[in-house]
Amino acid sequence: MSIKNLKGKDLLEVAALNSDEVRELLDLAEQLKSGKLKLTYNNKVLGLLFYKASTRTRVSFSVAMYQLGGQIIDLNPNVTQVGRGEPIQDTARVLDRYLDILAVRTFKQTDLETFAKYAEIPVINALTDSYHPCQILADLLTIKECFGTIEGINLTYLGDGNNVAHSLLLGGALMGMNVCIATPDRYQPNPEIVERARQIAGNKSKIAIATDPIEAVKGVQVVYTDVWASMGQEASADVRIPIFQPYQVNRQLLTHADKDAIVLHCLPAHREEEITEEVIEASQSRVWDQAENRMHAQKALLAALLGLE
Ligand code: CP
Ligand code: NVA
Repeated sequence: MSIKNLKGKDLLEVAALNSDEVRELLDLAEQLKSGKLKLTYNNKVLGLLFYKASTRTRVSFSVAMYQLGGQIIDLNPNVTQVGRGEPIQDTARVLDRYLDILAVRTFKQTDLETFAKYAEIPVINALTDSYHPCQILADLLTIKECFGTIEGINLTYLGDGNNVAHSLLLGGALMGMNVCIATPDRYQPNPEIVERARQIAGNKSKIAIATDPIEAVKGVQVVYTDVWASMGQEASADVRIPIFQPYQVNRQLLTHADKDAIVLHCLPAHREEEITEEVIEASQSRVWDQAENRMHAQKALLAALLGLE
């Protein structure tokens, strides 16, 4: 099994994995979810160092670690010295001596990379301004459960070309999914990441950037959205609302998607902004299964990084 090679590695972005590793992680997550397989990591300790708010990532990592027989420590920066300016390289080297694995949610990807450089234990990206790899593992698991496959599925993401969009581009490309990102002109994803996704996709799948929301959802099986202003962008939230309004996932827009299309959202959602109450509560919405899958996908990831027998 190639995910055996992930022991001791970091997960700073989803494209650090190859497609076999993603496939095997998803298979492992399914086995863990079904209860057919139980893995035990007694006495292993996961540190959670989150500079931004979190419900799903924090709780799903915590429960996953408890269910593996391990423990967690919440390293809230408000009560640890790193929040008072202790350098990341010092904090990382000290945490390395206590913990077995560390998940960091922060702003700059370069700060996460500094943690990973100075801590030898596995470091997991629990969200940065650039990427959200753990989210995308759960999204791929949800798509696989709904359609029995990921390859060849058409997914359109509507809204801001943000961290979630970037990881969807890369994770989708790895798995042979056709990914379209539809955003207002000035809010497109980072062109370097789009190019990288295209390189990964090769001729296996299509990576598209669009501005017309109706054209972008025509016939697609997965419609995905996220908040229009991410954490750290709150000051521009009001300016963004009218710009993003045409990209709202609502009943009318969904009439252009496949009739059996599902709707995903990483959550938290702002009802009546990027998604209507009616759509998030409709039967095509799979957001609660998607949120549950965070726990199963991350349990598989923790097991792989801590080491599989
Ligand atoms: N989707 C997600 O990462 O949610 P939290 O911010 O609640 O962790
Ligand atoms: N793009 C959002 C995702 C939250 C899970 C943010 O970064 O705030």
